[in-house]
Amino acid sequence: MKIYHDISLRPYHSFGIDAVADRVIEVSENDELQQAVKAAGGEEPLVVLGRGCNMLFSDVFHGVVLVMRTRGVCVIADDGDTVLVEAMAGEDWDGFVRYCSNKGWHGLENLVAIPGTVGAAPVQNVGAYGSEAADVIHSVNVFDLETMTMRSLTASDCCFAYRDSVFKHALRGRCVVTSVVFRLSHSFSPNLSYKAVGELFANEGPIGPSQLMAAIGDLRWSKLPHPEVLGNAGSFFKNPIVSRECGAALRTAYPQVPLYPTADGCKVAAGWLIEQCGWRGRRVGQCGVYERQALVLVNYGGASFDDIRQLADAITADVQSRFGIILEREAQYNIT
Ligand code: EPU
Repeated sequence: MKIYHDISLRPYHSFGIDAVADRVIEVSENDELQQAVKAAGGEEPLVVLGRGCNMLFSDVFHGVVLVMRTRGVCVIADDGDTVLVEAMAGEDWDGFVRYCSNKGWHGLENLVAIPGTVGAAPVQNVGAYGSEAADVIHSVNVFDLETMTMRSLTASDCCFAYRDSVFKHALRGRCVVTSVVFRLSHSFSPNLSYKAVGELFANEGPIGPSQLMAAIGDLRWSKLPHPEVLGNAGSFFKNPIVSRECGAALRTAYPQVPLYPTADGCKVAAGWLIEQCGWRGRRVGQCGVYERQALVLVNYGGASFDDIRQLADAITADVQSRFGIILEREAQYNIT
C-alpha cells in the first residue's frame, strides 16, 4: 500500500486536469483494504478509482482517492461450454478482454479498447458496439466499507441498466469492487448487431475473434480521442431515454434523428442533439467538444474543472432549450 499527501491527480484520471487531492492511497492487495480504510481515517469523501476514465475532480479535492492496483486473472469453473473467469479490480480492461479472447473464452470482444479497469466495468456497466458488461457478468466481489468484510453480489443484485448499476445508487461510496467474475463461452459467435460493425462484415465469410476486435478497435479510435493525446472521459453524457411519444414527436420534427427503441421508450443519440445545437468541434478556451464525436468533451491542456463544468452546463442548457430534453452526465463529478 502506498499513501501520498497533497498530490496531483493528473496521472490518476484521463481528463488531464491538474486537480490536487488531500490523499491518494494505492492498494495492490485486497488484504490491504482494511488498513487503507483505517488510513483514510474517516475522511470523506472516499472515491475509488481504477484509471479514472470517467471521473472529474474539483481543482482542490479535500478527500481520499483509493486507487485499486490489484492484479490477477483465474478460472474458477469450467463446464466445457462456459467458463467462469475472475479478474481482479486493477486489471486493465482492454488487456483482460484480449487475454480472454486469446485463451478461447469469448463474449467480451465487442468491448475491446475501452480505457479503464475491470473494477470500473460493473459500476457504470461499460458498453459499446452492441454489447455491455452486464451481458457476461456472473457476479461481483466487493469489500463492504461499513462491515469491513468481503461479500459477493450476483448479477441481479447489481441492478444493471444502461450505464447504471447499484454501485451508482444504494452502494455508492459504501463498497469497493475487488474482483469481477465473468461467464464466458468456449465457442465464438460474433455479435454484429451494431450497424457499422454489421456493415463492415456484410460480405465476409466466417469472422474470427481477432478480426472482430481489430475492426472494433479501429472503429472506436476513428471516432474517439486517445486520452494520452487529448484529455477526455469518453462519452461525457448518456444517451437520454425518452418516452415513445416524445420519440415519435422528435422523429416527426427531425426525420433523421438517431433513435433506438428500449423496453420503456426510446434512446436518443445525445451526440446528434449536441451537434444540432452547433457544438461539435467548438472550442471554448482550453476545452471543447471533440470534432469527430460531440458526446466527448476534451481538454486541450490546462483546462480547469470549472472550465469543463461550464462547457457541459452550456451544452445541457442549449439541448434543453432546443429539444426539451435534459442531458444526464455519464462522467462523474467529485467536488469538495
Ligand atoms: N452522432 C451525431 N453526431 C455526433 C455523434 C453521434 O450525429 O457528434 C450520431 C451518429 O451519427 C449515430 C448516433 O449519433 O447515428 C450514435 O452515434 P455513435 O454510434 O457514435 O454512438 P453514441 O451513441 O454516440 C455510444 C456510447 C459510446 C460507444 C458507442 C458505440 C453512450 C453514452 N456512448 O455512443 O460509449 O462507444 O455508443 O457503441 O452510450 C463511452 O461510454 O465512453 C463511450 C464512448
